[in-house]
Amino acid sequence: MSTAKLIFDGKEFEFPVVVGTEDEVGVDCTKLRATTGAIALDPGYGNTGSCLSTITFIDGEKGILRYRGYPIEQVAEQASFEEVCYLLIYGHLPTQAELDDFRALLTHHSLIHESLRHFFEGFPPNAHPMMVLSAMVASLSAFYTGADGDEDVDLNIIRLLAKAKTIAALSYKKSVGQPFIYPRNDLSYTQDFLHMMFAVPTEPYEISPVLDRALNLLLILHADHEQNCSTSTVRMVGSSKANLFSAISAGISALWGPLHGGANQKVIEMLRMIQADGGDFGKYVNMAKDKDDPFRLMGFGHRVYKNFDPRATILKEAADAVLEELGTDDPQLAIAKNLEQVALEDPFFVDRRLYPNVDFYSGIIYRAMGIPTNMFTVMFALGRLPGWISQWKELTEDPHMRISRPRQVYTGAKERPFVPIAQRKEVTEEKPEFVTV
Ligand code: CMC
Repeated sequence: MSTAKLIFDGKEFEFPVVVGTEDEVGVDCTKLRATTGAIALDPGYGNTGSCLSTITFIDGEKGILRYRGYPIEQVAEQASFEEVCYLLIYGHLPTQAELDDFRALLTHHSLIHESLRHFFEGFPPNAHPMMVLSAMVASLSAFYTGADGDEDVDLNIIRLLAKAKTIAALSYKKSVGQPFIYPRNDLSYTQDFLHMMFAVPTEPYEISPVLDRALNLLLILHADHEQNCSTSTVRMVGSSKANLFSAISAGISALWGPLHGGANQKVIEMLRMIQADGGDFGKYVNMAKDKDDPFRLMGFGHRVYKNFDPRATILKEAADAVLEELGTDDPQLAIAKNLEQVALEDPFFVDRRLYPNVDFYSGIIYRAMGIPTNMFTVMFALGRLPGWISQWKELTEDPHMRISRPRQVYTGAKERPFVPIAQRKEVTEEKPEFVTV
C-alpha cells in the first residue's frame, strides 16, 4: 500500500493512500488530528471524500457518469426508471422476475394513508410544492416508523418510492385547486405519475407515449450523482440514525436551493426574463461576467464536470426531439441555444470551464410536457429518490459508520469577560481574526 507523507511542524507523518476501482486516489487522513493535532480545512468540501461508495462513478474531466458501472448513455437509452431504481438500490440489474415483483410492490404501495391526505388541507394554496414534498415525506415517518424509531427498512424503501410520486402529484393538484386523482395499479411508475398530475374526473385522460418516454429519461438522468449537496445531506442526517423518511426529507430541502436542483426553475425564469427583455442574451452574458453583478447564468457550471455534463448532452438532443414530437415551437429553446453558443465561445466561461449542466435543458422539456415551473425541482427530487435511498442504505449498512461531525478552525473572539447590560456599548463591525501560520 502506498503512503503520503506530510511534513508539519518540523515532523514527518505518513498516511495511507486509498485507490478506487477507477484509480481515483484519496489520502486517508482519518488519523490526521490524532497524530498531528491539526485538522483538514476544506470549506465547500471540494477536496474531501466523505465515504467509500460502490454506487455511482463520475469523472468530471472526461464527462463520465456511470450507475453501478453502467454508462449513463446506455442506461438512459435502454432502461426504465423502475429498473434504475432497482439497480441503484440493490446493486444489480433486475431479472424480469425481480423487476415484475418490484413493480408490483411499487404499484401496491402507491396509495397514501387518508389521514396523510388531509395534511394537504393545511397548506396555503400557493405553498411551493418542494416545501410540501419535504414536509409530507417527513410526515411518512409518523405512519411507518414505530414511536421508538424502529422501522421495516425494506418495506419503507418501497413505500417511500411508491408514495412520493402520489404526494408530488397531489401537491400539484392542491396548487391548482383541482380534485386529487388516486393512483392506478395498471399503470407504470411514470404513466401513473402523469395520470395523477393531468387527469381530471370529468373526462378520460390518455397518457401520451411521448411524455411517458420523456419523463422516464428525465428521471433516469436525475437518479444519482454521488456525493452532491443533497445526497451528502441525506448521509449526514442518516449518520445520526434518524429514520429513512427524515433523512430523505432533509435531502429534498437541500435540493430545493437555486445552486442545486432549484436551478432548473431558475433557468426558465432567466430565459423568460431575457425573452421579455427583447431576447438580448448578450446583455445577460455580460451581466454574468460582471463581478459587481450577483447575476449568474443559471444552468451553467458544475463543481465536478469541467468539460461537459453528459446528462446535458443527452437532454439537449432530447429537447429537440420532444419539442418536435409534441409539435411545440418554444422561443425560449432558441434563446437557450444562443446563450449556450455565446457562453461556450466567451473566454470568461471557457477559462472557468463553465458549461451547461443538467438543469439547462431539463426545464425546457418539462415545460413542453405541461409541467409548471414550480414543479421542476419536485421532478428532480422524484428522479433523485433512488439515489438518495441507495446512498442512505449503503451508509446505514456500513459496519464502520460513524456519525458525521466535521470540525472547524475557530476565528472568533478570544476569551473575554462577560459585560453586564448597563455597561454595553453599541457594537461597531468586528472583524474576524484569521491567522495564517
Ligand atoms: N455564471 C457565471 N459565473 C459563474 C457561474 C455561472 N453560472 N458559475 C460559476 N461561475 C464563476 C464564479 O463566479 C467563479 O469565478 P471567479 O473564479 O472569477 O471567482 C468561478 O466561475 C468558479 O465558481 P464557483 O462558484 O467557485 O464554483 P462552484 O464549484 O463552487 O459552484 C455551481 C458550482 C454549480 C454552484 C456554480 O457553477 C453555479 O452557481 N451555477 C449556477 C447554478 C446552477 O446551474 N446549479 C445547478 C448545478 S447542476 C445540478 C445540481 O447539482 O443540482
